Amino acid sequence: MLSVRMRASLRGKHVSGAERIVDEENLTKTVLELLERPKSYDEINLKVERVEDVSYIDTPLKVSTLRFRNHIEAREKAIELLSYKVKESILREIIDVISTGANLKGWNMRGAILVDVESGDRLESDSNRGVRTVLLDWQDREAVKAKLLREGYTERTLDALAIATKNVFCGVEAEICWSDDEDYVTGYVASPELGYVRLDPMKKYGDPFGGRAYFVRRERLREVLECLERKALLIKGY
Ligand code: COA
Ligand code: AMP
Repeated sequence: MLSVRMRASLRGKHVSGAERIVDEENLTKTVLELLERPKSYDEINLKVERVEDVSYIDTPLKVSTLRFRNHIEAREKAIELLSYKVKESILREIIDVISTGANLKGWNMRGAILVDVESGDRLESDSNRGVRTVLLDWQDREAVKAKLLREGYTERTLDALAIATKNVFCGVEAEICWSDDEDYVTGYVASPELGYVRLDPMKKYGDPFGGRAYFVRRERLREVLECLERKALLIKGY
């Protein structure tokens, strides 16, 4: 099969990224679809790469949604939900880091922060970049998308749910995320036990800070990274 990845930038800033895993028959259609995604850009990069070995996940994480009066209450709930696995002080520290810019210059990272689930130590080798979950797609993207849209979710949920599902498959023990887009305020926490819990709102409208943190076991770091970055995965149903 083929991994098709698109990224677009505007004045040097990443503005859009998407990927698919398709057979050769669907390559042209997929490339055209991805080319139409970025709304404004001055550069689009398209990468097509053959993947020999694709694994399958039968079902994604179960989705639920919790709504709050404001992001402060939502973040408290995120801490409460994840505290069965990660110390509260570590969770507070990571939320603070994401909300004030997790990279070395006090801005958003280009990937996720890696955090040792026991000590709270940051484990990513490059704290400007972080780690990105790649090489994943839905086996029948259109069917899952239609179902999620019918249930009132968005295409963002489709993509973020795929990422969170792959993360759990690869051994990420827990995850917290909210977007750096100023106008997208719904975030989530995810873990094998909790599933994918959307929390609305995880930040204020207009806030430019966001990010992801993956809580992992230090001793499994190498295999988790290998899986997140190199293992091609298709998710079957929803
Ligand atoms: N945020 C910010 N910058 C990004 C980025 C992102 N999400 N993805 C790529 N870049 C920029 C970075 O500058 C990066 O350099 P770096 O590796 O030093 O950080 C550069 O582009 C090259 O990145 P690379 O990883 O080689 O890109 P790629 O061609 O393999 O494509 C994407 C990766 C864009 C597809 C991936 O990052 C992405 O965004 N995927 C979409 C996630 C998603 O929704 N998946 C679910 C699908 S079901
Ligand atoms: P987004 O939901 O796309 O706004 O992304 C929120 C944050 O998650 C970004 O600021 C990045 O730090 C991080 N991120 C983006 N794409 C990925 C990915 N593929 N894997 C891991 N982290 C990512």
